[in-house]
Amino acid sequence: MIDDMLSDLKRHPWVADARWDATRNTIVVRPNAAAIAVRPEPGPLLAEHLAHWQHVYEFVYTAGELRHGDDLDLSGWRASDTGAPFPREHMIEWIDHAVDLVLRDKPGVVLEVGCGSGLLVHRIRHQVRSYLGLDVAEPAVDRLRAQRLPGVRVLRASAHELASAPVTDSLRTMADATASPHRVTPDCIVLNSVTQCFPNERYLTAVLDDALDLVSPGGTVVVGDNRNLANAPDYARWLESARHPGIPAEELTTQAASRLAADEELLCDPRVFARIARRHRRDVRVACYAKPLGADTELTRYRYDVVFTVDSPPPGPCRIRAWADLPGTSVERLRTLATETAQSPTLITGIPNALLDGEAPDAVTPAQLAGAVPAGWAVLLDSADAHRLAVGPPEHHTGLEAVSDTGLTDRCNDPFTRFLRRRLPEVLTDHLEQHIPATPAPRIAVSEELTAP
Ligand SMILES: C[S@@+](CC[C@H](N)C(=O)[O-])C[C@H]1O[C@@H](n2cnc3c(N)ncnc32)[C@H](O)[C@@H]1O
Repeated sequence: MIDDMLSDLKRHPWVADARWDATRNTIVVRPNAAAIAVRPEPGPLLAEHLAHWQHVYEFVYTAGELRHGDDLDLSGWRASDTGAPFPREHMIEWIDHAVDLVLRDKPGVVLEVGCGSGLLVHRIRHQVRSYLGLDVAEPAVDRLRAQRLPGVRVLRASAHELASAPVTDSLRTMADATASPHRVTPDCIVLNSVTQCFPNERYLTAVLDDALDLVSPGGTVVVGDNRNLANAPDYARWLESARHPGIPAEELTTQAASRLAADEELLCDPRVFARIARRHRRDVRVACYAKPLGADTELTRYRYDVVFTVDSPPPGPCRIRAWADLPGTSVERLRTLATETAQSPTLITGIPNALLDGEAPDAVTPAQLAGAVPAGWAVLLDSADAHRLAVGPPEHHTGLEAVSDTGLTDRCNDPFTRFLRRRLPEVLTDHLEQHIPATPAPRIAVSEELTAP
């Protein structure tokens, strides 16, 4: 009977191989590569994972429980430590920071992937010629379309469809409408708070490769509000201690580890973006920004923004100064930052982040730095885990750990493989129960190696 089951499973289109493991009393299956592929189009299992996030957001936007108005729909924006909505002022600061990153190089045409309820659309559209928003969640797309915002077009499309005909046609139509038939390429492509819904690093890389191919020369790809894999253990401990005050240290370690392992969202080490930039066929520079927000929340501590700049002339030389070498206390050092612009371009590195390293005597917060730096400078990540910050002109953000992929091992977690290990056995158990109803299906597990050894 097991042989019949194995033969049946081997004919299933999602299965490459099935074998009986007598020691575990388990059928071990290996998925078909096409079922988990990203390209040429997402295979059925990957598509199920993408659909899961689509349904999550369709539910969130339909409920609309934190909707303050058309231009400030904060549905879904709750803090994971308290469960309470993030304060409105904090979210407005969060939005303004993302808007600044998009507008920094004065784009004429903006394409936003995962535009959601339009938090960015509403604040950017007046300052650009055209804005194309894409999202997978139907209620968000319908609501934004119904607002008929001048210069804005909204399309129901997924991130991996950036190079598809509907997106290209929309860009062309928008260019015709603004009487600039030659410009059909966006100057800025933005994905703000979207990468956490991506299934794995392969999908992230495929989407960003398309974005880097599509953007005009000198343009930017802004990948905002990424969850940080490099400080995810800190995050898990922070969250567990907030939820269980006074929890014994040993229990905290165990709970934090299982929270991290069970995280369903994609977490990315900042250095994965450096790797994507370095491997791309175009000339791509990358800068990695800290969140310089006033309030101390998970958004400020554990998320960061990435800006790719494509085919633009390399910046001139830049000197590097260590924070520890600046004279005086940290308050005095903050005061002297403005005078640094009078010197040649400078990157100041090794600044302990007071949100994560409060014990360091010369630590300061990203917000303190943002309040002290001169125009044109930004608060950047120095270390990938955001424990050390840097400040300076972002075009000079090179060579530091956060933007170098040398020795990078753990780049992203892998929510899709976790999903696959649960979902494929479920589907195949149903399949066997329909095809061989007389015998209960044994346990089915996905093999350790997903692809053929
Ligand atoms: C947290 S919201 C962010 C919305 C908006 N970017 C902002 O900054 O307010 C995430 C959005 O990404 C969309 N999304 C999730 N996965 C996506 C995908 N694969 N392609 C396109 N959009 C996606 C969701 O529907 C949701 O609207």
